[in-house]
Amino acid sequence: MKNKIQNLYEKQEFAKEDFDLFYEFRSALNNGTIRAAEKIDGNWITNDWVKKGILAGFRMGKIVKMGSFIDKETFPVQDLTNRGNIRLVPGGSAVREGAFVASNVIMMPPMYINVGAYVDEGSMIDSHALVGTCAQIGKNVHVSAASQIGGVLEPIGANPVIIEDNVFIGGNCGIYEGVIVQERAIIAAGVIITSGTPIFDAVNNYYIPKEPGKPVVIPKNAVVVSGTRPLRSNPDFSIYCPIIIKYRDFASDSAVSMEEELR
Ligand SMILES: CC(C)(COP(=O)(O)OP(=O)(O)OC[C@H]1O[C@@H](n2cnc3c(N)ncnc32)[C@H](O)[C@@H]1OP(=O)(O)O)[C@@H](O)C(=O)NCCC(=O)NCCS
Repeated sequence: MKNKIQNLYEKQEFAKEDFDLFYEFRSALNNGTIRAAEKIDGNWITNDWVKKGILAGFRMGKIVKMGSFIDKETFPVQDLTNRGNIRLVPGGSAVREGAFVASNVIMMPPMYINVGAYVDEGSMIDSHALVGTCAQIGKNVHVSAASQIGGVLEPIGANPVIIEDNVFIGGNCGIYEGVIVQERAIIAAGVIITSGTPIFDAVNNYYIPKEPGKPVVIPKNAVVVSGTRPLRSNPDFSIYCPIIIKYRDFASDSAVSMEEELR
């Protein structure tokens, strides 16, 4: 599949067998059998050929009418019937073809899950949240209302955002540009993190290291809140700086505990 998709990406004109290949690729994304990124031996590996396959799908698809909507024929809204115990509450939400949604995921309207995204078991995607292209969301993750998990297609990014198992993303957060949030971390409401955002670990008293070409990693169990730091070029001013205020403890667990009845 990988080689065939690489070839498809190079093409400018498409025959029926190219569409058959693309639809096979898209079903594999729907089923979660291929992913834009996966953890191998403890490291997240980006499968850039998957992004190429998605881009090929945009190039090859004509714009068609879909009910009252108009979009590329290759990426209609996905039919989620016969999926394991999923609830998609009515009202302005969509899961695009080519996204994987595991069983017991809850999606509150309006929210949007874009192509290439992977949302694992038991996660909650709350109202006005976006799971961007190729973003990887682990098990039992809570993506709170109005949070934005950035995608790799636009603006163009090399690595997808990865949110590992049991992470809590508070309301109105933005996680962009290939940032990895490791297991059980808590991102407090309103925190924005991009690949260029310095993040201060106040527990260990250092800035999270940033190496060229490597993703920013929020360590597991970190509790990250909004803060400020002096502006390097002019310390009379302050600039936004997320701070790891502590590592997850009993108080944090209670602060983000969920209402089981709603699940
Ligand atoms: C981060 C959060 C979970 C609190 O975690 P916690 O482990 O209970 O934190 P604590 O109350 O023990 O506070 C620890 C420190 O962080 C500070 N702090 C806590 N939350 C903060 C926040 N959101 N912004 C800035 N500072 C914060 C506290 O003042 C305290 O610092 P201090 O000791 O210097 O005063 C909570 O603030 C939060 O953001 N919850 C998410 C709410 C939300 O988005 N819900 C979604 C509904 S859809």
